[in-house]
Amino acid sequence: MTDVTAFAPGRVNLIGDHTDHTGGLCLPMAVSMGVTVSGRRGGDRIRLRSTATHGAVDLPLRVDDPAGIEPPWARYVAGIVAEAAPSEGLDAVISSDLPMGAGLSSSAALEVAIALALGCDDDPVAVAQRCQRAEQRASGVPCGILDQLASLAGTTGHALVLDCRTNTWRPVPVPDTLEIVVVHSGQERALAGSAYAERRAQCEAAEAHIGPLRGATLGDVDSIPDPVLRRRARHVVTENQRVRDAADALAVDDRSALGTLFDDSHRSLRDDFEVSTPVVDALVDRLRSAPGVHGVRITGGGFGGCVVAVTEPGALPDGRAVRPGPGAHRR
Ligand code: GLA
Repeated sequence: MTDVTAFAPGRVNLIGDHTDHTGGLCLPMAVSMGVTVSGRRGGDRIRLRSTATHGAVDLPLRVDDPAGIEPPWARYVAGIVAEAAPSEGLDAVISSDLPMGAGLSSSAALEVAIALALGCDDDPVAVAQRCQRAEQRASGVPCGILDQLASLAGTTGHALVLDCRTNTWRPVPVPDTLEIVVVHSGQERALAGSAYAERRAQCEAAEAHIGPLRGATLGDVDSIPDPVLRRRARHVVTENQRVRDAADALAVDDRSALGTLFDDSHRSLRDDFEVSTPVVDALVDRLRSAPGVHGVRITGGGFGGCVVAVTEPGALPDGRAVRPGPGAHRR
């Protein structure tokens, strides 16, 4: 038996949503909170207990149907086991200071921490791809690679410009005095699975007309005959540009420009990509009117969930201020 401890952080996506699944750009950062898996590797069972939630996992080294495992959080573990086909087991405790269901990608953090604890030693992109497939198999949602790669590539004090076409990234410093605040809308993501899949399929349908959205111009977008597909594509093309502009604004600490990009991103996700909800829109409007708030947008998959704001320190005391922390690692 070998002692092992692995940590994987959650993430918040500053800007660049629903761009990863068409090989686009995102600007996430790993947060300092995350999931820790601590125990011993060896034997031929995966046995896990959690200090954060109920239930335990006891799995063989081969799993065929992760989506059928109970309790539901164990499906993400089973997804990793199914993808990694480990040669030895794990007997460990999972602890977490990452609030679950708070939009900070607790499922990706769990997948990545388990993958590292099981001894996955490939490069970060290969581990992220494995965890992405595990998430897809566990949840049935055809997610992109954003959450898993952000957890693995996280860099203290920095956000990451993620290029999901090449799976490469570039760290951009987050100024110490710029506050990044996450606020949950209180609305759980109803129908997230099917609606996410529908949006992804609509992006693919748009690409059938004009080729990869990553390389498309707004002129190309205008040539798409179907108005719904046109709006979906317009979101992706403009959002990719907003990621480039936001990275530039962050690098020179231009808060006003960054805030405007956040506001534009929210409108695009609301009106063109249609992944916001009236509850989230009302929250965005309320937070946006507070003094010291530069910009607010829905973040992540949408259909409820969280918003992220860039603010002066202390402007939104009811939200959760997050700082960029280190990426996933074994200790
Ligand atoms: C979810 C998915 C990610 C990404 C975001 C939207 O978090 O897991 O892959 O598509 O939605 O940006």
